[in-house]
Amino acid sequence: MKDLVVVLTGASSGIGRAAALALAAEGATVIGVARRAGLLEEVAGEAAGVPGRIVPMAADVTEAEQALQVAAAVEARFGPAEVLIYSAGVYHPGPVAEAAMERLGELVSVNLAGAYFWSRAFLPGMIRRGRGHLIFVSSLAGKFPLGTIAPYCGTKSGLIAFANGLRMEVRPLGIAVTTVCPRVVETPLVAGHRDDLVAHLTRDFGVSRPEATARQLVWAVRHRPREVVDAGWAKPAMALASAWPGLVDWFYAYKRSAWARRSASRSRPGEDGA
Ligand SMILES: NC(=O)c1ccc[n+]([C@@H]2O[C@H](COP(=O)([O-])OP(=O)(O)OC[C@H]3O[C@@H](n4cnc5c(N)ncnc54)[C@H](OP(=O)(O)O)[C@@H]3O)[C@@H](O)[C@H]2O)c1
Repeated sequence: MKDLVVVLTGASSGIGRAAALALAAEGATVIGVARRAGLLEEVAGEAAGVPGRIVPMAADVTEAEQALQVAAAVEARFGPAEVLIYSAGVYHPGPVAEAAMERLGELVSVNLAGAYFWSRAFLPGMIRRGRGHLIFVSSLAGKFPLGTIAPYCGTKSGLIAFANGLRMEVRPLGIAVTTVCPRVVETPLVAGHRDDLVAHLTRDFGVSRPEATARQLVWAVRHRPREVVDAGWAKPAMALASAWPGLVDWFYAYKRSAWARRSASRSRPGEDGA
């Protein structure tokens, strides 16, 4: 990957941060994008001494103009980006009827509209070069929507649909499109939500590490697959569920009551729900 120019949104934290370090370790020049410039500088510093490097470029992914500015700055300094990894994302769980309107809007603008803007900004350079690769970090939640995280799931399913349509459009131009669907990963995104769905999913299905998803992203950059799904042991269940979608509704209703019992017993002193 020596000298490969990779633009990576969400590089200040979690999966994006681990992927920036892993790609730089492989020799790539990683343009790290996020709003928190201080954290980007920190991760760039951590990469000192590895074969590649991390170049911070602070930007808000929801601002279309900033996507165009970063694309122009990257091109002027390094030539057209060869890979765009869109990992920026937010997660706001809870029942739709109680959700704050601005949070619903933020889910769509960061997780979905931003992916449109950044693809639009970087595709022309890739098309001119006749080669490129767009990688979107979606989620298992985009494959299997669940109650209490429906708006998040909608953005992640939307991202998969966007990627699948876009692939048809750009593959003849030499550009690959990959979706990566991790299960629950131990990052700040979910750290504040230990008591809801994530906690139950983690307990029942295990949790992954950002470094593991970063390795999948490095693999994806090398092999340009259509998708990477980190379903673990749930893979056969996924095949069954796509043949019989009502099964997931039933499974969710069944698990929901088990989770409610577990939460209730945890809140009673002397009974261990952990
Ligand atoms: N953790 C999980 O369990 C899990 C599972 C499946 C999929 N995913 C997906 O993986 C991706 C990365 O999540 P993570 O777990 O690594 O979360 P994280 O640690 O919270 O990182 C989120 C990243 O997104 C960036 N971001 C958010 N809003 C932004 C904005 N408006 N402009 C620019 N950057 C913005 C943040 O940077 P700044 O705040 O500095 O801007 C941060 O770098 C997300 O798309 C998430 O949906 C996560």
